[in-house]
Order: sequence, then C-alpha cells, then structure tokens
Amino acid sequence: MASGRGFGLADAEAFRSTAQVFVEHAGRMGPGLAGGPSFGLLKEAAGGGALADTRTQHEAVCAFLDCLKRASGQGATPETYTFVAKCAEYDRYLDEKVVEFRANRREDWPSNAVKSDDNTTIAKVVDEIAGHLRSFSEPAQSYQSLVDYTQARIRSLMPTEIAGMRQEANISLILPFLEKSLPVAGDVAEFGCFRGILSVKLAWMLKALGADKHYYAFDTFHGFEIDDPAGGALGIGSFRDDEFDAFTFLTKWSRILPLTPVKGDATKTCAQLRAPLSFVWLDLDMGVLMDPVLRTIWSKCGPDTIIGIDDVGRPETPTVSPWLDGLLAAGALEMVFDSDRIAPNTFIRFVKKKGELPPA
Ligand SMILES: C[S@@+](CC[C@H](N)C(=O)[O-])C[C@H]1O[C@@H](n2cnc3c(N)ncnc32)[C@H](O)[C@@H]1O
Repeated sequence: MASGRGFGLADAEAFRSTAQVFVEHAGRMGPGLAGGPSFGLLKEAAGGGALADTRTQHEAVCAFLDCLKRASGQGATPETYTFVAKCAEYDRYLDEKVVEFRANRREDWPSNAVKSDDNTTIAKVVDEIAGHLRSFSEPAQSYQSLVDYTQARIRSLMPTEIAGMRQEANISLILPFLEKSLPVAGDVAEFGCFRGILSVKLAWMLKALGADKHYYAFDTFHGFEIDDPAGGALGIGSFRDDEFDAFTFLTKWSRILPLTPVKGDATKTCAQLRAPLSFVWLDLDMGVLMDPVLRTIWSKCGPDTIIGIDDVGRPETPTVSPWLDGLLAAGALEMVFDSDRIAPNTFIRFVKKKGELPPA
C-alpha cells in the first residue's frame, strides 16, 4: 500500500483478493454487515470493480477499514468465530497506531484524507491487515475456525470433567453441525457410539442450549458382530470394551441428561425411533450396516435433517465411501460439507435428503 494523503494500491489484485475474502466471510455473518455504502464499495472491488485511479483506490481501502470496524462489533456464527475475533484484533491495532502517530479520526479519512505524523507506517499497518485477512481464504483457516468455535463452546458450556474425556470422533467437526440443526424439529440419533463419550458431550450440549430434543445412542455395546465384507481392518469383536461397560455408563448419565442408550444390532433397533430426527450421526464403519439403518430411519428424516457420516474414504473402512457415493450419484442425498476439503484425512461428510432412495 502506498502512502500519501490517500491510500494508493501497489498491488490492486492483492487488495481485490482481500476484498473477496472479506465479502465471503461477512456474507456468513448475517444481515448486519451486508448493508451500508462501505460494504457495497468493498463488494464492488471484490467483484472486479474499478480500482484504476488513486481516488477509487483510497475510497476502497477506507471502505475496507470501515467494514473491519463494523465486523468487529458483530455477533459471530460458527463459521466466522475466528474471523470476527481477528477483525476486532486488527481494528484495535489500527486504532492504536492512529493514536501513536497522532492521525486524524478514521471516520474523516474517506473525505479528508489521512493526516498523521507518519503516513508511511499507517499505510504499512493497513497493508499488513489486508494481507492477514487474505490468509482467511486458506482452508486451514476454516478448520481452525471450527476448532476454535467448538473449544470456546465446550469451555463455556461443559464442566471440565466431561470436556476432558476423550472420544474417538472429531467433535470440532460435529458440534457446529449439531448446533446448525437445532432449529429443525426432531431428536438426535447416533449410530455406533462405542464408549459413549461423544454421546454424553452432545447430549450435555443439547441440555445446556435448552434444546427440546432427545439423544439416542445406538450400539451393540460389545463391538462388531460381522467382519468387514471388503476385507477391511474391522471384524467380529472390534471395538469391544467390556471393562468400560458403556451401556451402564450411559444409563447413569441418562438420569440427568436427555439421553437414552439403545443396545443391540442398530440395523434392527433403529426401528424403535418414533419421532422425526433433526440430526443423525452414522459411525458404523461399514456400508452394509449404514445402509439398512439409513433406509429404516429415512421416513424420520426431513429435507433439513443433517446427516453426518464418519470414516468416508478412510483406508481401514473401505466400504463407506462407495456406499455414500452411490446414494449421492442416485440423487437420494446431497453433500452439505466435506471435511477433507478443509482438513485432509478427517473423513467426515454431512449430507441432507435430496430425493428418494434407490432400491436396496
Ligand atoms: C468407530 S466406532 C464408533 C466410535 C464413537 N463414535 C466414538 O466417537 O467414540 C464403531 C461402533 O459401531 C458399533 N457397531 C458395530 N456394529 C454395530 C451394529 N450392528 N449395531 C450397533 N452398533 C454397531 C461398534 O460396537 C463400535 O462401537
């Protein structure tokens, strides 16, 4: 960024990328930031609008700085938690520099130009901020945003004794989607809960958030009863942990949480579900187990039910991905989120109902 009494752009395309990233994230923040002339100007810059002369460049940079301030005061959504926190941090940093270099008020910059003891340093600070925000386009940032959000939710809503228990599944990728499903009417079902730690954590969250929902945790509670038909690593007895006794553990928790463990072969026991479902978590590791479960609960799922599937594409569970691919290709399901796009080797997909199931 060049300095003078106005901001000039040494690299207009780099600034355009910043504008694009900002507009994309701000779009997920709700209506608050979407209005206003500065956001309109930034959108214009993001969309390829003129940054040709120094006057429009100055206006665009000032619009960006105004949006930064406005974003700092917004409420975050799961996807924008880190983004909003960073906007606030950068905005404060710029305010500090304004004081340090005795600059005129930021509100006056668009019309009256920048007047300070050191315009070069002020321009450098703005340049750094624009660069940092560009990095939000990197996938790792989206994943970090989910991790930060989940950790913050756990810290504020869960006692440390529960938060400290370790589950197999990646809760940072699951909790934000469970929360997204809260406005959908219906209960929650987890298939393949193993020791039930995820179940306790998510049922706790339902209660803490005041959701009118019940959590059903399905498992044989003695591991797999079949071998993987494709010769994968799992077979009869895998995931058996009699010492832990997850069924008793969950039964105890069910006294204070809206939680019910359901023991037995889930391909059969899932027929006990009566109410609609708002969120489903399928962690049965094999297509031959997931398929009959999904078919049985299909009528309990609506178009907004969020269905999560774990271990898609994991080498140890070779039948999950072909099973899901078949349903996507048949138009029965549509993809909502593919975790491997933002964090390789996390193997989670969230889908929704799109059409009808193909014949079994
Ligand atoms: C990958 S583990 C689930 C891990 C768990 N979600 C966690 O985060 O700790 C798979 C689970 O599926 C269960 N399972 C396997 N076959 C089943 C069946 N037919 N019905 C119900 N559960 C089954 C196993 O007992 C095992 O606990």
